[in-house]
Amino acid sequence: MTEVRRAGAVPASLWERDEEVATITRAVDTLCADRSSPGTLLEARGEAGVGKTALLAETRRIAEARGCTVWSARGGETLRSVPFNVVRQLLQPALVSMLPEEAREYLGDWYDIAGPALGIADPGERQADPQGVCDGLVAAVRRLSRREWPLVLLIDDAHWADQETLRWLAALAERLDETSVLVVIARRPGDVSGDSARHLDAATAVGRPLAR
Ligand SMILES: Nc1ncnc2c1ncn2[C@@H]1O[C@H](COP(=O)(O)OP(=O)(O)OP(=O)(O)O)[C@@H](O)[C@H]1O
Ligand SMILES: [Mg+2]
Repeated sequence: MTEVRRAGAVPASLWERDEEVATITRAVDTLCADRSSPGTLLEARGEAGVGKTALLAETRRIAEARGCTVWSARGGETLRSVPFNVVRQLLQPALVSMLPEEAREYLGDWYDIAGPALGIADPGERQADPQGVCDGLVAAVRRLSRREWPLVLLIDDAHWADQETLRWLAALAERLDETSVLVVIARRPGDVSGDSARHLDAATAVGRPLAR
């Protein structure tokens, strides 16, 4: 009953996507219902032109209508080798609005480790441990998801995201229980290989596919 009413409250702008839109709406409602709700990851997987970007746009519309903060980023075929490019894009709205002291407070002990990856702290002399940076970014998103709740993160063209971002995404997916955030990613089935494919598959294995 409730679902029918809610679906009716959102004018349909996509053809034949009722099931996907209902899943997204439910996930947004779960997020908005409770600050401590566990996070959700949804995956729209499909070939070029099937409507993945359109579905992300619809997600933004639904989420913003319910008062969510929505941040988005996309992978770029020519930017795959730029470490942390996509996660930096994604968190940009928070990073640009934070004063350095605030960022230090939000990242806490992780500031020196994850700060350089986010472009907000100078890299130190030592080469950062990749796992440490990844953990630091997961911790940063956990804090941001509390500060910005209800927070929705959209990642388009995830098959073209840089490997460091995908590693972070897999780690975040594993810890969604502790992070009240909705993550929706769009990806083509191919176009990704090696470690990137491994991380992306690990992330989406935890998440739920939107009907394709
Ligand atoms: N269900 C739908 N109803 C109406 N229009 C749609 C629907 N799905 C897709 N479209 C339209 O079809 C075109 C292609 O969709 P879209 O760009 O979302 O595909 P995509 O899956 O993101 O492709 P790519 O993998 O190339 O990024 C767009 O103009 C979009 O607005
Ligand atoms: Mg697209």
